[in-house]
Amino acid sequence: TSKITPLIAGNWKMNGTTAALDELQALAKLLTTGEAPRAMVVLCPPATLLAPACAKTASAGILLGGQDCHAANSGAHTGDISAAMLADAGAQYVIVGHSERRADHGETSQMVCAKAEAALGASLLPIICVGETEAERDAGKAETVVEAQLLASIPSAADQLEIVVAYEPVWAIGTGRTPDVADITQMHARIRAILTDQFPTRGNTIKILYGGSLKPNNAREILGIEHVNGGLVGGASLLANDFYTIISSV
Ligand code: G3P
Repeated sequence: TSKITPLIAGNWKMNGTTAALDELQALAKLLTTGEAPRAMVVLCPPATLLAPACAKTASAGILLGGQDCHAANSGAHTGDISAAMLADAGAQYVIVGHSERRADHGETSQMVCAKAEAALGASLLPIICVGETEAERDAGKAETVVEAQLLASIPSAADQLEIVVAYEPVWAIGTGRTPDVADITQMHARIRAILTDQFPTRGNTIKILYGGSLKPNNAREILGIEHVNGGLVGGASLLANDFYTIISSV
């Protein structure tokens, strides 16, 4: 796994107006003046900020991503945004299947798979999210739930094209609670086993990110776990200093 370049992605969710570009500028400054990070850095701001963010991020090597895309390329889908539009606005990545989309918009793994295919079709790298709820974990079903989500959410093209997987236990998102190191270790090893089984060519190099209350004070420990190839950061990505500390923990 050492040959996998780690990736730290920030997900601003529905936060940030143009004033937040200052924070991005601050992050860019930290990244260009500090020691070069070992990790690739991706930031997923609201779609409204993608184009103006480009000017702030390019010189610092920060890549941009969308937070969701439609499965279609264009058409009568009011309020939706296509992968091609995100790419046109400067994105190279797009998060698909975040648990908030699955919960708030009823997105099934089949829908997530179609979105991931659309992303690949627009030359974006999909960051495909999976994760169990607290009830599912308490019932001892965490691994079976995650396995089912992975099998149904990842397009078969993942054996030819690069994708990223993010494991985000739903109960750890925005709660300040994280799984034990042993639980993260076990889940990421299981995900790796599923990926290598499903995708014989690329499965052993697919990045598996951990997400859910990743903070400056737990990043080093969590990001050091085997088969944790980086993180997907929510709240802590909104503050340049916190996000930079997490990036520098790799
Ligand atoms: O996508 C990242 C996210 O769901 C984690 O959020 O705020 O717990 O870091 P947070």
